[in-house]
Amino acid sequence: MNEYIYHNPTRLVFGKNQIKALKEELGRYGKKVLFVYGGGSIKRSGLYDEVMNELNQMGAQVSELSGVEPNPRLSTVKNGIKICKENDIDCLLAVGGGSVIDCTKAIAAGAKYDGDVWDLITLKAQPQDALPFGTVLTLAATGSEMNSGSVITNWETQEKYGWGSPLVFPKFSILDPTYTFTVPKDQTIYGIVDMMSHVLEQYFHNAENTPLQDRFAESILLTVMETAPKLLEDLEDYDLRETILYSGTMALNGTLQMGLRGDWGSHNIEHAVSAVYDIPHAGGLAILFPNWMRHNVDTNVKRFKQLAVRVFNVESDGRSDKEAALEGIDRLSAFWTSLGAPNSLADYDIDNSKLDLIADKAMARGEFGNFSKQNKNDVLNILKMSL
Ligand code: NZQ
Ligand code: ZN
Repeated sequence: MNEYIYHNPTRLVFGKNQIKALKEELGRYGKKVLFVYGGGSIKRSGLYDEVMNELNQMGAQVSELSGVEPNPRLSTVKNGIKICKENDIDCLLAVGGGSVIDCTKAIAAGAKYDGDVWDLITLKAQPQDALPFGTVLTLAATGSEMNSGSVITNWETQEKYGWGSPLVFPKFSILDPTYTFTVPKDQTIYGIVDMMSHVLEQYFHNAENTPLQDRFAESILLTVMETAPKLLEDLEDYDLRETILYSGTMALNGTLQMGLRGDWGSHNIEHAVSAVYDIPHAGGLAILFPNWMRHNVDTNVKRFKQLAVRVFNVESDGRSDKEAALEGIDRLSAFWTSLGAPNSLADYDIDNSKLDLIADKAMARGEFGNFSKQNKNDVLNILKMSL
């Protein structure tokens, strides 16, 4: 293992009716609250009213920022920062999926930064302070509810970047599985692909002696794969929603990366694709990740084979290590397809006309990938395999 320090300060408030904890959790940080949410799902589900009721009981003075887009945009972050500055906001509350939470993180840091918030997102500057915020999660997918990362899109320049800071861990996150009952089938599938991808990004690393980390990762993959098909048959099953919600958080709250550095190359390529085409993040991953794996299988065939044997039940007898590894990748891709995820860029009407532009965007921060370094030719090859 590599040397490491683990510290995750987010209070996880998990279970049915835990919204009752909101006034106490948020009340610690002040009364002037910016309530951030998305395009309306929380109004349709009734959660908006529940949250408002709690905020009223807290005696909060509430400002609102609604309409945060999936793939949240810099322009929306800037609107939020303006509201914070004009209303002397004490703390923020994000109610929604990863996009709403990521947008809130950027607002929280941007409100305490004198320059252009894009500097923070492009890593030209480091945040020195941030407003405190909590979240009420409505979609199991990104892990943003218990990590310090955020992904923001500058739609004008077609750039989408991840950034992070220990200052933007949520102070608390309320996770009630019933709030995910209304997530439609397609978004449920995307969430499942996203959390599995997060586990896989961290499975591909170069650290030695990680038997427990490997088993943690495999256990999340196996649990999600066992649960997902049943959940898609019954989107309002509490136990299945609960398992998936917990899995999504555990997949990307830092637990799996103790003592190792995950790869994250597939995410980098996907962010470049969705910067140009605005497709759902995990729709892109379902297409790109298996091709990243095929392209990089020789980096450490034994690791790919271990995944194939332990998670995808590939028989190793009579197969070479590489054959077993490739069979595992095919089974991963087939599993995602069986759920209803896309498996080629053509599914989003993406042809080869902008591959060079996408590859340049993926290379904007130079060669990337901690398990396997990728250059522009690697990216182009993975994109071509994905057409
Ligand atoms: O906007 P509303 O009306 O709320 O609708 C949303 C949105 O249309 C809807 N939705 C959410 N909860 C719902 C619901 N609909 C019905 N019932 C509910 N309970 O679902 C749609 C998608 O929401 P979004 O927040 O965009 O999805 P997700 O959580 O998958 O977040 C995706 C974003 O997170 C970034 C992605 O790049 C993308 O921008 N990521 C963030 C990460 C992080 N911070 O750690 C890591 C990830 O790898 C990812 O890159
Ligand atoms: Zn992701």
